Amino acid sequence: MLKAGVLASGRGSNFQAIIDEIEKGNLKASIELLITDNPSAFAIERAKKHNIKYLFINPKEFASRDVFFSRIADELKARGVELVILAGFMRIVRKPLIDAFPGRIMNIHPALLPAFPGLHGQKQALDYGVKISGCTVHFVDEGMDTGPVIIQAAVPVFPDDTEDTLSERILSFEHRIYPEAVRLFAEGRIEIDGRRVKIKGHPSVSSDIVNPPYR
Ligand code: GAR
Repeated sequence: MLKAGVLASGRGSNFQAIIDEIEKGNLKASIELLITDNPSAFAIERAKKHNIKYLFINPKEFASRDVFFSRIADELKARGVELVILAGFMRIVRKPLIDAFPGRIMNIHPALLPAFPGLHGQKQALDYGVKISGCTVHFVDEGMDTGPVIIQAAVPVFPDDTEDTLSERILSFEHRIYPEAVRLFAEGRIEIDGRRVKIKGHPSVSSDIVNPPYR
């Protein structure tokens, strides 16, 4: 059973989507710990409800960002975590955490990377005027949303979309592809080959929304 740790800063709906798949028996993983950098994150309420241990680590208490991430790495290691899941964690991960979990940190981003990285990916897509956007699950490296892509889902952008309506449409696909990416990892079906992520076997989400290099 894969031991996962989740980092979240806010609402935690992606965290919830992963919890739900575990509880339904579709994902053979356990969430050993939620770490948040925000004491009022709603993700904490979700952790409490599902009896998941949680920890608020205050970035202001650390001399540098590196030391903050080193502490996060220590907490995750102490609980035997094998995969780190960033679920709306609004910070750029620093080297001490990346080095502690090489090829073992995933993130979800609300745009089709490499388009519109960083904050407000949905608004960036609207402002640019693209007709298709979506979401991306990727491995995390030291850049901002630059690591190898695992799964993407595309959604249309409609002429009357607002940031809210587009965000909601994208979010419903985030909730499908993130648990799927974790499942592929838990099943040992992911191989990282440079920038390319190879996935063995068949996807279990509908092929109309995903376009990974299955083989
Ligand atoms: C999600 O839309 C996620 O893709 C985005 O924050 C939201 C968190 O929602 N992440 C980023 O923008 C990272 N750059 P959630 O807390 O309900 O999962």
